[in-house]
Amino acid sequence: MVRFFGILIGLFFAGMMVYSFGRGAVEYVSNPPVKAVEYQFHEKPKEVSFASDGPFGKFDNQQLQRGFQVYKEVCAACHGLRLVAFRNLSDLGYSEDEVKAIAANWPIETPDIDPNTGEASTRPSIPADKFPKPFANNVAAAAANNNAIPPDLSLITKARGGGAPYIYSLLTGYAEVPAKLPEANRPGSGLHYNPYFANLNIAMAPPITADGQVTYSDETEATLSQMAEDVSAFLIWTAEPSLIKQKQTGWAVLAFLLIATILAFLSYKSIWADVKSEKKKKDA
Ligand code: HEC
Repeated sequence: MVRFFGILIGLFFAGMMVYSFGRGAVEYVSNPPVKAVEYQFHEKPKEVSFASDGPFGKFDNQQLQRGFQVYKEVCAACHGLRLVAFRNLSDLGYSEDEVKAIAANWPIETPDIDPNTGEASTRPSIPADKFPKPFANNVAAAAANNNAIPPDLSLITKARGGGAPYIYSLLTGYAEVPAKLPEANRPGSGLHYNPYFANLNIAMAPPITADGQVTYSDETEATLSQMAEDVSAFLIWTAEPSLIKQKQTGWAVLAFLLIATILAFLSYKSIWADVKSEKKKKDA
């Protein structure tokens, strides 16, 4: 009897499962999910490669210096680099004196306290200082930027899924609003259409607008795409200055493990050599 009820209950549950699966399937077919507008118009980051990509990648210091120049002349007015100190620039091949000069002449001064009055003040930066923030706080940053806060760029290539190619695409991806874009998704006042940005409408006006916006001191031609690529490469470095060292350490560790494995195998051979020859003699 108990068994009979057990089977009935089991059948009931199995029936319910089949029924609800069937209903779900019918619903899916008759009323398919609508893709969000953002999803339809959004574009994946463009394909760009950087010198630091891949297991043998290396930073191209010349490019990092150009990228730093773009950051300094274009982006630094709105975006900070709170995790990078001026002295870190020596990694890019700047001499100690050059770093000192860059710090001392940085357009935004480092906040400090006046030792005589105790009042908040500012002073020229020294190499040990981090890059000073362009705005005193988020309220001031939002007020100056149509209510959007320009994010700190130190870790931005790590913080966004697409990494450096995303930054490159964002900078070069401003476009005309497509005619088919629904009214609700069109950029409001102070916003700009950019299909690489998550919600398609970004508060940052196109920062790099024309070829030759920056004058490079090397032979490189400062095209829009070149400047975007250089500053993206620079932002890979700010997010992971020890990237190349890590790759090289990885190769050294692999080489060590390979040698250790060979040594272990040879010592295994020599330790068991006697035992094995004994056994062969016995077997013979
Ligand atoms: C006039 C100020 C201004 C300048 C100059 C500027 N930005 Fe921005 N940037 C903004 C603002 C504001 C936002 C926030 C936009 C938003 O959230 O809609 C932003 C956002 C960003 C983002 C984040 C996008 C995301 O996915 O959230 C990146 C990356 C960025 N800017 C890179 C740069 C680079 C690189 C430069 C220099 C070439 C630069 N910006 C120059 C104001 C500026």
